Amino acid sequence: MKVSNLYICSNCAYENSKWLGKCPSCGMWNTMQEEIRAAQPTQTARRRVEAVSLQDIPLNEVRRTGSGIGELDRVLGGGTVPGSVILLGGNPGIGKSTLLLQVAQSIARQGEPVLYLCGEESLQQIRLRAIRLGVDSPGIFLAAEQNLEFLAEYIEKIKPTNVIIDSIQAVYCSEVSSIPGSVAQLRECTARITEIAKSSGITFFLIGHVTKEGVIAGPKVLEHMVDVVLSFEGEKSFSFRMLRGAKNRFGSTDEVGLLEMGPVGLSEVLDPASIFLSAETALTSGTAITTSVEGSRPLLIEVQALVSASGPNYPKRMAAGIDQNRLALIAAVLEKRLGFHLSACDVFLKIAGGVFLRDPSVDFGIAAAIISSHLDEVIPAGTVFIGELGLSGQIRPVTCLELRLKEIAKMGYSRVVVPKQGRLPAMADLNCIEVQTIDEILELIREG
Ligand code: TYD
Ligand code: MG
Repeated sequence: MKVSNLYICSNCAYENSKWLGKCPSCGMWNTMQEEIRAAQPTQTARRRVEAVSLQDIPLNEVRRTGSGIGELDRVLGGGTVPGSVILLGGNPGIGKSTLLLQVAQSIARQGEPVLYLCGEESLQQIRLRAIRLGVDSPGIFLAAEQNLEFLAEYIEKIKPTNVIIDSIQAVYCSEVSSIPGSVAQLRECTARITEIAKSSGITFFLIGHVTKEGVIAGPKVLEHMVDVVLSFEGEKSFSFRMLRGAKNRFGSTDEVGLLEMGPVGLSEVLDPASIFLSAETALTSGTAITTSVEGSRPLLIEVQALVSASGPNYPKRMAAGIDQNRLALIAAVLEKRLGFHLSACDVFLKIAGGVFLRDPSVDFGIAAAIISSHLDEVIPAGTVFIGELGLSGQIRPVTCLELRLKEIAKMGYSRVVVPKQGRLPAMADLNCIEVQTIDEILELIREG
């Protein structure tokens, strides 16, 4: 068969016959990868599909099936939709295989067979994990198979309602000559899976590796082809995990699932508000409490900062739990607006519990922790800071203020510093202090 060389952009799947340093389609550098492809087989005759009027399309209600893990169902929008393809991405060792084995157990217990295609681990390894998790349903069928051409045969024999592919980077189609995990393989394998899912109504869970930048390895088209993209986040050294929706064709991507990894696998976190707070209230400088709304749930978050003289070296900005650039930006605002000489200091920041926060309303808490460490002044106990920090030092309004305040009051805090944003909801036992700019915080910290 004729073989042709091709270069494919790993970001946008743009194809070119020659290598290029910069992709002309998406503008990214060094993303063109060589693919050696067999010539496409000639197309078989296809039936034309009739176009129908929008109004004539029957409105079937989306039927959802519970996955047995409430937090996963929450992120999916109430359960899985038959015929959908769900891509689950996350760092190695975060618990992707564990989560899906638990899902397999609960589906199989409902009397529906589940096929688990393990392209990475041996059957023994999966069995050992299953024993640890207490997964023992005879309705889970495992196959240590990497060749996707046999998928249809397995499906024919087992007749599963759900198929788990661990992982999409480990499977291949032999018609494509490049190695598993390459752009062409990922595209072809995902296209085949999607076709089977749509024609048979089987739900597919695909495990996807992530690159060191945290994005799912492979072209962006992979994410375009599937119905749902979920990311499984957390620090391996901590037990809490967050399940976020990056794309969902059957629901919103606003919800977040919270799970805890324990000795017998993942369990749901039932009262998540305080899980990221330390057991003892630290009476040291550099610690501040803030809130982050994840999905529809407010969480109380402890921020720890350490500001120390950087000596002759270039000042460091190191953050765990927020974007590094965001820390650099907050430190720069404090330098400019409060006159702190932070450019001569290293600033280290840590969000307790190993979560990664994107909610901008934690800015104020981060700023408070940095100020507290820099001045070596302890923030008065029972104080919470909420607000986004503007470049000119103003404390900007946040979303879901009432929801946050209710949770803060429920957790027994007495004082909250909030941005000025219209009428505040009346809260007994909670002293709300409204501020407009970052310099107002200095008095609050100093008055103790
Ligand atoms: P795993 O599901 O293999 O991760 P992934 O598929 O994302 O690479 O989970 C790996 C980690 O989870 C492993 O280091 C051990 C830990 N773990 C537990 O803490 N408890 C358990 O019950 C199981 C099965 C795993
Ligand atoms: Mg795995």
